[in-house]
Amino acid sequence: MQRVVCPGSFDPVTNGHLDIIGRAAGIYDEVIVAVLINVTKHSLFTVDERVEMLGQVTSRYGNVKIDRFHGLLVDFCATNGITAVIKGLRAVSDFEYEMQMAQMNYRLAKIETLFVTTNPQYSFLSSSLVKEIALYGGDVTGLVPEQILGRLQARLAEK
Ligand code: PNS
Repeated sequence: MQRVVCPGSFDPVTNGHLDIIGRAAGIYDEVIVAVLINVTKHSLFTVDERVEMLGQVTSRYGNVKIDRFHGLLVDFCATNGITAVIKGLRAVSDFEYEMQMAQMNYRLAKIETLFVTTNPQYSFLSSSLVKEIALYGGDVTGLVPEQILGRLQARLAEK
């Protein structure tokens, strides 16, 4: 079985993430979407919430599973019998850091990284921008899945 991990913070999941996850699901037998548990980074949604939201928006794919991890991605891969990572590349600005991580993960544990070029419709999209725009009342319809829109607005209203 060909398995791949799609790691990230997903705070919250965007349509750009969903595009990459869906395309990965078309290539691999199983896609594990792994949410990084990062206690030092302030997040809008808890890890439980992010896992739940990812489960909701990927429910149409029978071969996508949602998990969480802390520590090194290569250790998560070893524990779960995964040999490859899939990432979306939005623009040249992503390339340098992504290449560095890909090469380090290969150096650490021979984990391969596959890059999928982001759908141009979403090349400008990031979770941080979505949060900032929504926080100041901007319209993020079409940038995050429908189910996430309400959750995002409700969470920001609490702030
Ligand atoms: O959505 P993000 O925050 O850009 O995702 C970054 C992520 C989670 C893919 C990256 O930070 C990661 O893999 N972190 C796990 C820790 C790790 O393995 N660090 C060494 C990378 S070479």
